[in-house]
Amino acid sequence: MIPFDVYPVFDINPVKAEGSYLWDDKGTKYLDFYGGHAVISIGHSHPYYVKKISEQLSQIGFYSNSVKIPMQVELAEKLGKLSGYTDYQLFLCNSGAEANENALKLASFITGRKKVIAFTGAFHGRTSLAVAATDNPKIVAPVNATENIVFVPFNDIAAFLKVMDAEVAAVIVEGIQGVGGIQIPSADFLETIQSKCKEFGAKLILDEVQSGYGRTGRFFAHQHFNVKPDIITTAKGMGNGFPVAGVLIAPDIKPTYGMLGTTFGGGYLACAASIAVLDVMEQENLMENAQKVGDYIVDKLKGIPEIKEIRALGLMIGVDMEKPAGPLRNALVFDHKVFTGAAGAHTVRLLPALNITQKEADEFIDAFKKAIEATK
Ligand SMILES: Cc1ncc(COP(=O)(O)O)c(C=O)c1O
Repeated sequence: MIPFDVYPVFDINPVKAEGSYLWDDKGTKYLDFYGGHAVISIGHSHPYYVKKISEQLSQIGFYSNSVKIPMQVELAEKLGKLSGYTDYQLFLCNSGAEANENALKLASFITGRKKVIAFTGAFHGRTSLAVAATDNPKIVAPVNATENIVFVPFNDIAAFLKVMDAEVAAVIVEGIQGVGGIQIPSADFLETIQSKCKEFGAKLILDEVQSGYGRTGRFFAHQHFNVKPDIITTAKGMGNGFPVAGVLIAPDIKPTYGMLGTTFGGGYLACAASIAVLDVMEQENLMENAQKVGDYIVDKLKGIPEIKEIRALGLMIGVDMEKPAGPLRNALVFDHKVFTGAAGAHTVRLLPALNITQKEADEFIDAFKKAIEATK
């Protein structure tokens, strides 16, 4: 058997990681400005995180949700406190797609409706309903296609108002579109969606899988605006690499047994990883750091003439280049040993760990300028 060929890969084999650095099997050191798709929140192999998971593994690694797991209570309390959603319920699962799948399913169960509004440029995952709400026909299999999802241009209030009605179960929108190229919703857009959801009895689902967990300087990206969603989904940074995801559910939604369920979700190791992430975020003021270093990076990027546009909140940074960004990203990784991400042909996506330092930011800016020069 051979491993399934999921993505085209760089010919690099990382064998060790610490903070914002990776080392490959030849001992070459890389600066990580991508965090493996926005997953690394508190830095690679943070000592506290390693200790918490290792200690947990030597106690008990897994039992199913048929017994009491007090760590789930601890995690829910800490997440409630740090995010400000103290009165929400937390359903734990394993991936961003699964969180969105459950969020959409729950909204449909609760409202008894089928119609879902999603937006152009959206990415919500690869399971059936999540992928149907994802604006990429190439990854939607015929079995996933459904007329229940209506797509509306992102940030287009008039278009949204035309399709919003009393048949809508849910509106699903990312806090900031990540795969779509770091597209930030306008305050008016999100606030209109919220008020229309209330008016028509639909549920507002904020997908914070990529934009959440402190990345933008607030716990969730939507907290930069005046909105309070009915359902919030989270994954990626939540476990700093351990697969864990959550659905945060407003107190007026009362799911009954059977609506949501899972075997692995909320296991001891996932809880240990997630609690460690929240502890480190709080102890090391990582949301403040994300804001501060994010602003610093954007300031340094401004004025580079080869950049067409920068869209950013905290450490969620999209840099649109005048020229296609592929050669630049290749030069960064192969010549300057810096990992970055992409979105479309022209956008470089920067999603470093939340404890990135100003010194590491300078190192990145220096490499970025040199790589631009070399690929002019
Ligand atoms: C906004 C958003 N939602 C959902 C997902 C899917 O998450 P996962 O790959 O963990 O299923 C992603 C992944 O990139 C994402 O960016």
